[in-house]
Amino acid sequence: MERTLAILKPDCVRKRKVGEVLRRIQEAGFRLRAMKMVTMSKTEAEGFYAVHEDKPFFDDLTDFMSSGPCVPIVLEKENAIADFRALIGATDPEEAENGTIRSDFADSIQENIVHGSDSPSNGEKEAAYFFPEHEIVANQ
Ligand code: CMP
Repeated sequence: MERTLAILKPDCVRKRKVGEVLRRIQEAGFRLRAMKMVTMSKTEAEGFYAVHEDKPFFDDLTDFMSSGPCVPIVLEKENAIADFRALIGATDPEEAENGTIRSDFADSIQENIVHGSDSPSNGEKEAAYFFPEHEIVANQ
């Protein structure tokens, strides 16, 4: 079974959309394997997004991601990476298809409500960034 790491970002928490976004994720067939609420430090956000450290938006992105609580979630499903990216829509909500989570709730390319891993190997690595393996529950 494929794993993806979702993060309901600080804008999602501030807008009180955690329940609505989780409902859509579960109705799309994803199994929740681990979940918590955490406020990342700037350093933790920089570590999570290290792959983007050369990008012009890196400093703003890591400020935003450490600006309040977020909800990291380990999800499993056949084809989880691609199916989750289809569910949330394009990074820029202006380009996201109608009916996707970002199209419906996101304000900008940065404050885009939710993160999803971009490959199976990153899904595993990103899950491990927030959860030791023993905190990830087995299939019920
Ligand atoms: P995410 O899927 O979490 O992966 C990297 C994040 O960087 C992305 O969502 C956006 O929040 C942010 N991002 C990507 N491109 C841009 C951009 N051009 N300007 C600002 N933020 C961006």
